[in-house]
Amino acid sequence: MTTRLLFALSFLLTLLSGCLQKEQKKDVSVTSERDPHSFARPDEVVVTHLNLDLRVDFDKKELAGHARLTIHNKTGASTLWLDTRDLIIEQVTLEPEGNETTFRLGDTVKFLGQSLAIDITPQTKSVTVHYRTTPQAAALQWLSPAQTAGKKKPFLFTQSQAILARTWVPCQDGPGVRMTYTATIRVPNDLMAVMSATNPTTKHPDGVYRFSMPQPIPSYLLALAVGDLAFESLGPRSGVYAEPSVVKKAAWELADSEKLIAAAEELYGPYRWERYDLIILPPSFPFGGMENPRLTFATPTILSGDRSLVSLVAHELAHSWSGNLVTNATWNDFWLNEGFTVYFEHRIMEKVYGKTYAEMLAQLALQDLEATLKELGPGSAGTHLKLNLTGRDPDEGVTDIAYNKGYFFLRMIEESVGRERWDALLKMYFETHAFKSMTTEAFLEYLRSNLIKGDRTLEDRLRINDWVYGPGLPKNVPKVFSEEFARVETQLEAWKKGTPASKLSTHNWTTHHWLHFLRNLPPQLSKQQMQELDRAFGLTRSGNAEILSAWFLHTIANDYQPAYPALERFLIEVGRRKFLKPLYTKLTETPAGLARARKIYAQARTGYHAVSTSTIDTILKWNESL
Ligand code: BES
Ligand code: ZN
Repeated sequence: MTTRLLFALSFLLTLLSGCLQKEQKKDVSVTSERDPHSFARPDEVVVTHLNLDLRVDFDKKELAGHARLTIHNKTGASTLWLDTRDLIIEQVTLEPEGNETTFRLGDTVKFLGQSLAIDITPQTKSVTVHYRTTPQAAALQWLSPAQTAGKKKPFLFTQSQAILARTWVPCQDGPGVRMTYTATIRVPNDLMAVMSATNPTTKHPDGVYRFSMPQPIPSYLLALAVGDLAFESLGPRSGVYAEPSVVKKAAWELADSEKLIAAAEELYGPYRWERYDLIILPPSFPFGGMENPRLTFATPTILSGDRSLVSLVAHELAHSWSGNLVTNATWNDFWLNEGFTVYFEHRIMEKVYGKTYAEMLAQLALQDLEATLKELGPGSAGTHLKLNLTGRDPDEGVTDIAYNKGYFFLRMIEESVGRERWDALLKMYFETHAFKSMTTEAFLEYLRSNLIKGDRTLEDRLRINDWVYGPGLPKNVPKVFSEEFARVETQLEAWKKGTPASKLSTHNWTTHHWLHFLRNLPPQLSKQQMQELDRAFGLTRSGNAEILSAWFLHTIANDYQPAYPALERFLIEVGRRKFLKPLYTKLTETPAGLARARKIYAQARTGYHAVSTSTIDTILKWNESL
């Protein structure tokens, strides 16, 4: 071969590899990396629309009907791969062919369920799966009337994030795939159905409800709730659903929702989902909130009676940009959803309620983060922002790291480059990547090409790799100072030095002040001190779940018996995992506490959602002991 030929060849090769690299990069930013938590192969055949037709049967605890999936066959593949878990597949038909087709369910894999391989042809435009759910479907919680506020009618709600959508809909259950959806849901005619879609505001006498979600969403945002629901408007594009006896209180508590939407839009661009409604669920809902598009699902424990827990609304609303519009490509990139959302939440809160308020939230976030870092250990890979959850339940990635280390990373960038530059970048980021998925690497590349732009000093100052791929908190973590909490500390010191609790100046304290006070009490308190605090502030009989749970930690640690009945009631009524986890953990610290925990859990467990029982089972080693 001549030198010239060699040269030409190597030139061609370089060109080709350049193209390939570009191709790969493009792939990473807009479609998913191979998702370790899904059997689907969206790179071959992708589902673009879902049509659901389901009947809700409370007696059998079953959803039955069909899911018609519109597909785009990119490669002429002869198999469509879906995710399922605990579903009974009855029949699959193809359109336009009109015939029944063959399918195979794969072996059951822990957390992931079973693949469903459906034989298709290159002509197939949609696939209809006739199926029913089973009572163990982890996404579904079927509540008895006793578990509702009204005590007369049953209730059902779903929780699809992270990989539970497959327990009620056969689908490509990874956050890197998006589809639009329509649904017909048939319920008993005294109940109302609502979804993460266009919603009714009154009951339909025939019990048939039709929905549409015209914006493409990932499967983890599929959501349904059925119950005795009423609706109250909060403003031109927002409102709240709840049981009739709760809806007025809910509407009062959430009155600022329109203000929050306006603030969010001012920060990062238009709200892209038309309406923003909320539903207040019964207390067994395992989360504080879930950002189902158009309809945030929320725990009733935010109804504190003083509007002091609306940051949860700001959080779920913020997900309408970070998460629902620009979505983590896989659960390893979960911090892109939650870290951005906490950052955005704090900015919304600052805009509506001021800097001193937002700084309280930041300080609480730092305390939570420090506690989590301690729990996970200094060198732990679980403290990296980018996770590796292959072979594990993605639920294990739901720690304060994604939320609060993510938050402080973004705040650090803001403080380094200034708000103006940073806000402009974020606004453009949401606009450019709307309705797409995002990997950590693609985000960092975006940051480097649009913000850092080769500035070596800035790059060094940010320590991006330490934050994203390293453990713990890098040296450049932002400083937080809360004047309000300094006031709380003054009162706390005074009490420690002998000022009676009843003489402390606590008027106008919000939930956050109380949390700071309670978290910073000495760990060991005498019975007299516990009693004094309880008498002065009515802690055991507080109606505020945040305050109660922080107080209960002390009552357990100091064996303060007057609070036992209230603690027991709380654990039986409230299913929110964030409260249950620390309380049960604290109880396990003494043999007597462990015995009490097991006794309470035996009674409470059937009332909890699968998300919570799987966490508490581990803490109490429940299954091993049976
Ligand atoms: N999307 C999360 C809830 C979630 C995360 C469900 C991972 C399943 C898997 C939601 O936005 C959230 O973060 N909720 C928080 C409230 C928030 C104010 C921090 C919660 O439930 O505590
Ligand atoms: Zn969130």
